[in-house]
Amino acid sequence: MKKVLLIIALCVGMANINFADEGMWIPLLLEKYNIQDMQKKGFKLSAEDIYSINQDCLMDAVVIFGRGCTGEIVSDKGLLLTNHHCGYGAIQKHSTIEHDYLTNGFWAMNMKEELPNPDLSVKFLKRIEDVSAKVLKDIKPEMTEANKSKIIVKNIAALKKQAQKGNNYKVVIKPFFYGNQYYMFLYEEYTDVRLVGAPPSAIGKFGGDTDNWMWPRHTGDFSIFRVYADKNNKPAKYSKDNVPYKPKKFLPISIKGIKKGDFTWVMGYPGSTQEYLISDAIKLIANVRNPHRIKLRDERLAVMNSYASKNDTIRIKYASKNARVSNSWKRWKGEISGLERLQTIKKKQELEQKFQAWAKQNNKTEYSDIIPQLSKIYSEVEDLAIAYDYWRESIRAIEVISFASKFDNIIRMANEKKSDKEIKAEIEYLQAQAKKFYKDYVRNIDEDIFSKLVPMYFENVKSEYQAHVPDLNLKKGISTYAHKLFNKTIFTNEEKCTNLLNNFTVADIETLKQDPVYVFYTYFKDAYTTKVKAQYDALNAQTNKLYRSYLKGLQEMNPDKIYYPDANFTMRVSYGNIEGFSPRDGVEYTYYTTIDGVIEKDNPEIYDYDVPDRLKELHTAKDFGRYQENGTVNTCFIATNHTTGGNSGSPVLDAEGNLIGLNFDRAWHGIQSDMMFDPERSRNVTLDIRYLLFIIDKLAGAGHLVEEMTIIE
Ligand code: ARG
Ligand code: ASP
Repeated sequence: MKKVLLIIALCVGMANINFADEGMWIPLLLEKYNIQDMQKKGFKLSAEDIYSINQDCLMDAVVIFGRGCTGEIVSDKGLLLTNHHCGYGAIQKHSTIEHDYLTNGFWAMNMKEELPNPDLSVKFLKRIEDVSAKVLKDIKPEMTEANKSKIIVKNIAALKKQAQKGNNYKVVIKPFFYGNQYYMFLYEEYTDVRLVGAPPSAIGKFGGDTDNWMWPRHTGDFSIFRVYADKNNKPAKYSKDNVPYKPKKFLPISIKGIKKGDFTWVMGYPGSTQEYLISDAIKLIANVRNPHRIKLRDERLAVMNSYASKNDTIRIKYASKNARVSNSWKRWKGEISGLERLQTIKKKQELEQKFQAWAKQNNKTEYSDIIPQLSKIYSEVEDLAIAYDYWRESIRAIEVISFASKFDNIIRMANEKKSDKEIKAEIEYLQAQAKKFYKDYVRNIDEDIFSKLVPMYFENVKSEYQAHVPDLNLKKGISTYAHKLFNKTIFTNEEKCTNLLNNFTVADIETLKQDPVYVFYTYFKDAYTTKVKAQYDALNAQTNKLYRSYLKGLQEMNPDKIYYPDANFTMRVSYGNIEGFSPRDGVEYTYYTTIDGVIEKDNPEIYDYDVPDRLKELHTAKDFGRYQENGTVNTCFIATNHTTGGNSGSPVLDAEGNLIGLNFDRAWHGIQSDMMFDPERSRNVTLDIRYLLFIIDKLAGAGHLVEEMTIIE
């Protein structure tokens, strides 16, 4: 009997371990759904401590950083931490051969030295509201999707208008569970955000794209910024009169250290997941879309790397682009193997069969046809999806084409005879775009990429979805064609293009319209808009509607299970514990790495592994200060928190709400977690806060920054 009880207890316990760590939860609903579970696992605070509109709470310290990352405030003077790869664009923009902050790092030794970033902002979340009833007001089940969406758009506009009254907040309303629910988010956006510090890439991007998405990891992936405000602590454009922002709340930092099993949680902005896709959708991604996209990026990366490895100026120019391209490229590969190993298709099929049987048994006719209908759409969408992906990943991946596409607007405006004032504003926008474009543009790279990708488009896109380019004959060879095109266009010529913009008159519109690259782009754009987009969007709208019912049905079928909505770049909380994993039979990964591993990986021959001398000196002298543990410094750790792209820079916190690290990645073996979380192997990778502080304090000698923070020893 005892034995049986023990087994039952073990199973119950295991069930908890197995499923508990999946999920990205809405802060507003923690009290209702999660807090008991969190506390049972070791969390010491209340739901109100995380999210509250009545008191200062931890949420007040967490921001959207830029367009796709998370950051957190760590001092009463608006000091902000995020990842190196999140600040990368800003660091790169300030970098030149003379001031190569990418290679050498950057440290402002006082506030005057902090560098402004015109394109960067952070957003503080002020409030979340469930507006489902208001958005779905007047929606009747029998209405067509088109009519429903008209009403929804109108309701959302009205709600936004009302929410914006008397404040300067940005209001965002987003669908959850494919539109079964809607939530509203109010943000306050600060636009004066200055660069304070960044380690050398050999620390901040240590291991580069080889180590990216991998565990064990030794990357010091952080950068430091400061938020500035006007004299009333309100958002203001950059001005030297602005003052450091005084936050409602900033995160205290614990350097007490971590151990296996510790409760840990993450608060941030996961971008997008697709956890509820059916098996046919997984097939399409794993067997068709990812392989095509990978192949296209293989080619792009090969060209970029062949130039960058030979020339430092090019390496700097293409550093940010290269990292962007290689990041998803590698993730797609990991997803394919992870989905296969998890037998995702089989598991999803089993769920679908169960769902079908349940609908039948319970006479739920509204659900009985969902899976077959979805299946049918997936069988129709494949060629369109390929055409869609090639438009984005081949044609638009050619830099000069994507630059030329920015001139669509001015051409349209001239056609519509817009006022001089509007035209002037658009030209100013284009001037800024051109400056950005030419700063990091290398024509030969782009021309080579063009020659690789254009033929791939024609080989892989089904002929009925292809563009027709009258003067292109692939049999005659693409390189000569490309070379002529790149010679003739003004877009590869900085001087000509800038001149045109600086002395712009409406007569120039003809030059733009007839520019050979612009014309080339138009063939593909037209094919895409007339043959692909409308159909593709229509099928997507249909799947969206079907998934809405599917999710509703699943929740009815499993009334005791709490479902979390897919990530949609709104604030979420994930929780779990610090835990290693076994990537394969006979191999066990520990949950942390140390600076000793940085030294082990040192290789002066390889840019990404070339450990700075100063770090080696500190290591040899064991000069680790209060950041050491057992005679070394911990660099990174992993845990079972469910995270995704967008969570980068998110605070990783302990049971008391102290900052113990910065989330920056996931481990390869569980990387398919956007589609299926694997409790055994899905791990988020965190930079240990002690390594971060050690770098600032000991390597950069910027101890004044650490002094600004609240450190718990
Ligand atoms: N994989 C991480 C994320 O998705 C880090 C990416 C930046 N690093 C890189 N080597 N490309 O953002
Ligand atoms: N590195 C990702 C990010 O930038 C995080 C992830 O995908 O796990 O958000």
